[in-house]
Amino acid sequence: MNDAPSAVLPIEILIAPHPVLRRKARPVRPEDAALLRALLPRMYEAMYAAPGIGLAAPQVGHELRFAIVDLHENETRTPITLINPEIIRAGDQLVAREEGCLSLPNQYAEVVRPETVRVRFQDLDGRRQELDADGLLATCLQHEIDHLDGVLFVDHLSSLKRNMIMRRLAKERKGKG
Ligand code: NI
Repeated sequence: MNDAPSAVLPIEILIAPHPVLRRKARPVRPEDAALLRALLPRMYEAMYAAPGIGLAAPQVGHELRFAIVDLHENETRTPITLINPEIIRAGDQLVAREEGCLSLPNQYAEVVRPETVRVRFQDLDGRRQELDADGLLATCLQHEIDHLDGVLFVDHLSSLKRNMIMRRLAKERKGKG
């Protein structure tokens, strides 16, 4: 227990099978700016504390199309805030990479996805940005954008594997009481 006062109010990360995780989020509009500015520091804090490398708004109960990513490589923070992100190009090459998710704690599986993607998004100032990604960043971006459409990484697995993971997750959560 850390008694140091936190700079931001903690935010709860929803755990599957919470229904909000399954809904398609709506685009962020200019009038959502104040909400985003209030939510983002709390989301970053929750992601770093977890620790995780990505967190999408539906995972904290907001059905809005934005997500944050930080691979935190070499102990350096490189936060990326993606507003209304979309994959505008995906490479033909596929790659299998182990994925986890803060909404499915302690569950991991290899997921096959395109190895490279180009993502278009808006930044906090409303400017349009494009990002070419490969490796872990490409996987992470696809995973987070999936969240905005109510898709979880287990949806890319066979139903057998998916059911196994969901049952294991439910059992572990129950065990925690
Ligand atoms: Ni996730």
